[in-house]
Amino acid sequence: MELPRHIGIIMDGNGRWAQQRSLVRTQGHLEGLKAAKRITKAASDIGIKYLTLYAFSTENWKRASDEVNFIMGLVKQFLRSEMDFSVKNKIRVRHAGDFSGLPHDIQKEISQTMEDTSGFDGMQVILAINYGGRDEIIRAVRRYISGGNISDISEKELSSYMDNPDIPDPDLIIRSAGECRTSNFLLWEGAYSEIFVSKKLWPDWDREDLEDALENYKKRERRFGGIANVA
Ligand code: IPE
Ligand code: IPE
Ligand code: MG
Repeated sequence: MELPRHIGIIMDGNGRWAQQRSLVRTQGHLEGLKAAKRITKAASDIGIKYLTLYAFSTENWKRASDEVNFIMGLVKQFLRSEMDFSVKNKIRVRHAGDFSGLPHDIQKEISQTMEDTSGFDGMQVILAINYGGRDEIIRAVRRYISGGNISDISEKELSSYMDNPDIPDPDLIIRSAGECRTSNFLLWEGAYSEIFVSKKLWPDWDREDLEDALENYKKRERRFGGIANVA
């Protein structure tokens, strides 16, 4: 099988990485940011078209405010420090999730980056921040019923109300740090995604880990509910 067009990554394990080194959790997030940059670069070099990074879920607000604020600060840092890279590699940055629920300074930063990169035709990086799959579906349904007749709802129609309807469904969803669950990531779009779980904690991720996931993906047979192709 060829390369996945769209990869989604659940970047998990920052806290455990820090804990293993007797460091504070925020230190793990800082290293996680570096891993996100390495993997973004690797994915762009490899020729991936869409990369969705799960950076903050709708449930992550349950964490201590210090940790939440630190992560929001890192989001800003990521957007600013990646600008040169985005320009050079024609990376278009987008957002998935409940934008209105984000702090205003983060909203401003994301809007600015999306605007500055909107004309680029290289890889698209979708930052899932304040993202929840259930929340996305609820927001889509709300938008749909405000403009249409609920009785004629179809999968195709509702899909067009999701956060980024022009982006193809993820072919591959990767999760670092070993947990075998979706944690509310791309519930609608990931219905037939191949899932790759790695034990490696996110801050330790490097280009080779992405390549391993891609090697593994190549061997998969996607049937979408049909039956195997026999020669
Ligand atoms: C993932 O790492 C980053 C976010 C959820 C924001 P965690 O912070 O969940 O790390 P663990 O799971 O506690 O190790
Ligand atoms: C998923 O990780 C969310 C992100 C990576 C942003 P969590 O650490 O929040 O997920 P759970 O709590 O282990 O399910
Ligand atoms: Mg976690």
